Amino acid sequence: MSETTARMDDTGSGESPRVPQVTVEVHVQPGDARRALHTEVLAGLCGEATPKELSPKWLYDERGSQLFDEITRLPEYYPTRREREILQSYADDIARASGADTLLELGSGSSEKTRLLLDALGHTGRLRRFIPFDVSEAFLRQAAEAVALEYPGLAVHAVVGDFERHLGKLPGGGRRLVAFLGGTIGNLKPAQRARFLSEVSAGLAPGDGLLLGTDLLKDRKRLFDAYNDSAGVTAAFNRNVLHILNRELGADFVPEAFQHLAPFDEENGWVEMRLVSSRPQEVHLAALERRIHFAEGEVLRTEVSCKFRPEQVEAELSAAGLHLRERWTDAAGDFALSLALKR
Ligand code: SAH
Ligand code: TRP
Repeated sequence: MSETTARMDDTGSGESPRVPQVTVEVHVQPGDARRALHTEVLAGLCGEATPKELSPKWLYDERGSQLFDEITRLPEYYPTRREREILQSYADDIARASGADTLLELGSGSSEKTRLLLDALGHTGRLRRFIPFDVSEAFLRQAAEAVALEYPGLAVHAVVGDFERHLGKLPGGGRRLVAFLGGTIGNLKPAQRARFLSEVSAGLAPGDGLLLGTDLLKDRKRLFDAYNDSAGVTAAFNRNVLHILNRELGADFVPEAFQHLAPFDEENGWVEMRLVSSRPQEVHLAALERRIHFAEGEVLRTEVSCKFRPEQVEAELSAAGLHLRERWTDAAGDFALSLALKR
């Protein structure tokens, strides 16, 4: 199936009227994903790239999505709780200011916090459609069905896509609010982030909005602890990518031979998620007919998570043609939600 002719189906069963009708549009077929992974691994792992690097979207197979969900409940991982706190206090203000009838959510994951926005948009009487968009198909389908069950009358249209490639395919119509929560924007590096924001902006009509969650710069120990939790869930999340490479590329990574470390990089202002080779080792990638050498202590970078100053967020939005309407933070000032409108 090509990129342009997406597969459409619905998951409702004809037999029970209680089963919600969720439509699903798929822009990333397993075959496309595997080809993209091959290309990336050749460039980021087999080439001269230093450090060796993979893009974070590969972290989220079904198990990766489940592990991330566990991360959001860890005592050290404050971003989810802080963002939820902001939504609990201000979702009604956000809903009114947006005037939206359609909520589109990029990188929607479990859409757990999003229910607060759906409730608030419901209170305005305008809400019609929810469009969760994520690269992790199985997890997205479950999350979309759960939302549809809880919100009878809401049209739920899930889109399986890569927000770095398929923003042009987002459904139009109505007054739209695009939500990008969780600080996921911080997982894009500055140049990718600028491109992402201008693509989002290009897809919006005047008056449509972007609700952007960003984690803020703070005490370095709290940042460190949030990404190096004592229960080792983040380590398992990070190492899961090696299991994915073993499965998808017939590779023979020994995940236990890589240590998780996520230090804060002062120069770039980001937490960097690393897998550090505990010993010199060779890895064979059968599907690519390649061998990769790791020196002892050599780093494989799997994700960055930028931490922001509020003015920087405003400037980046504005550079993309998105005008800051209002910004909300939690009581501790840990996390920010910015509502920006397309001019
Ligand atoms: N919004 C949720 C989940 C954040 S985790 C929250 O706030 O808790 C990041 C989510 O983005 C995951 O669900 C992951 O599958 C998705 N994701 C990562 N890279 C993506 C990409 N390139 N395109 C689409 N979704 C992506
Ligand atoms: N979007 C999450 C964040 O930036 C993803 C994440 C969880 C993550 N744990 C991580 C990113 C560890 C880098 C390092 O918080």
